[in-house]
Amino acid sequence: MAKMKTQIGIVGAGPAGLTLAHLLHLEGIESVVLERQSREYVETRVRAGVLEQGTVDVLCGSGVGERLKREGLEHGGVELRFGGKGHRIDFQELVGKSITVYAQQEVVKDLIAARLAYGAPLYFEAEATGLKDYDRDPKIYFQLGGECHEISCDFIAGCDGFHGICRPALPGEQLEIHERHYPFGWLGILARVPPASHELIYSYHERGFALLSMRSPEVSRLYLQCAADEDLNHWSDDRIWGELRTRMATRDGFVLRDGPILQKGITPMRAFVASPMQFGKLFLLGDAAHIVPPTGAKGLNLAVADVRVLAQGFVEFYKRASSRALARFSDRCLERVWKCQRFSGWMTSMLHRFPQEDAFAHHLHLAELDYVTCSRAASTTLAENYVGLPFDSRGRF
Ligand code: FAD
Ligand code: PHB
Repeated sequence: MAKMKTQIGIVGAGPAGLTLAHLLHLEGIESVVLERQSREYVETRVRAGVLEQGTVDVLCGSGVGERLKREGLEHGGVELRFGGKGHRIDFQELVGKSITVYAQQEVVKDLIAARLAYGAPLYFEAEATGLKDYDRDPKIYFQLGGECHEISCDFIAGCDGFHGICRPALPGEQLEIHERHYPFGWLGILARVPPASHELIYSYHERGFALLSMRSPEVSRLYLQCAADEDLNHWSDDRIWGELRTRMATRDGFVLRDGPILQKGITPMRAFVASPMQFGKLFLLGDAAHIVPPTGAKGLNLAVADVRVLAQGFVEFYKRASSRALARFSDRCLERVWKCQRFSGWMTSMLHRFPQEDAFAHHLHLAELDYVTCSRAASTTLAENYVGLPFDSRGRF
């Protein structure tokens, strides 16, 4: 068995693993990143698109934001649409901040390019198969090119997403799991057609939720609320566009042009938190520790928020010989995680139709949306959460 040694063993080259590896490199802390998929796979996987200002600051401040600054679409607000009418929530006016639309796979590409350019270890098609002694003398076992390898490290960062191996390696009886399954999912498409609006539109309709987002001035990203066990085969392109038009319609004749659908898929909706996010020398970050329903656009941003806290903890450990920040990693991250769960859950229940909802429930949705868009206090609440709760100099909110 081939053996290697490093300071931080990182499992997973999604946004969490790659951002952590990059921030550590800038601080002179060594790491090895293992990714079970190929480079091409992770660079083309279509997922998130909305970056909070704090996420943009981390990427730009660490020197990987050149393309993001050039190609990212900065938005000063979003539209909430209901009752056939749109209502803009003006982030800039309410909280003086913006969000940036820049695809997750572009963030991943930029981070991979940076890491390979400075020649730090990043292995693709390298599947971590087991962890050992993570409370004393951590080791990661992985398969690469048909051979088994071992990494000895000071710490393990479990950045391997919801279906990874790091969370299941923890003692189940000491891990609290909080979980909620929503009785619906999202059918998402990527289409080669200019976005019908230059800002995101979150639309509540009696037939269910719809979302208009984008990836570039030429490519739209759209979602429809669908059944949790929806069969994609029942959704022809025509049916998808027809349903989007119905749910997005306005009284003044909003036009949604269709175009070739480049990709389509169904995502189940769940909320999940594993607590604590650390055991001994193993830390869980991003989707490995928590999942939020996508209505608040928080998943990737939360992953980067965890990374900020852990990177700071490692810097204090290696440069100031202090374990204090590392010991508080889980508590600090979970404060933000639960606030994002609250916000994402609120956006989800406000904007979606639940099974067996009656006319009373429909009127409550409309009243809540009316209140949120008319009250400056309520709009400000939405805006300050959507753009991202602030961090202080210690990495907290
Ligand atoms: P992942 O991106 O899942 O990365 C984990 C990596 O670990 C993967 O590359 C995986 O292949 C690898 N891995 C797993 N197991 C192993 C193993 N055994 N060995 C080695 N490697 C392994 N978030 C937002 O902030 N804004 C949005 O607008 C948004 N929209 C979304 C829309 C959709 C349709 C979906 C599905 C998600 C969305 N999210 C959004 C959520 C966001 O995509 C995730 O929260 C984000 O990918 C989390 O990053 P991560 O690095 O923690 O995990
Ligand atoms: C996206 O562009 O993929 C997107 C935007 C906003 C969300 C979720 C996903 O709330």
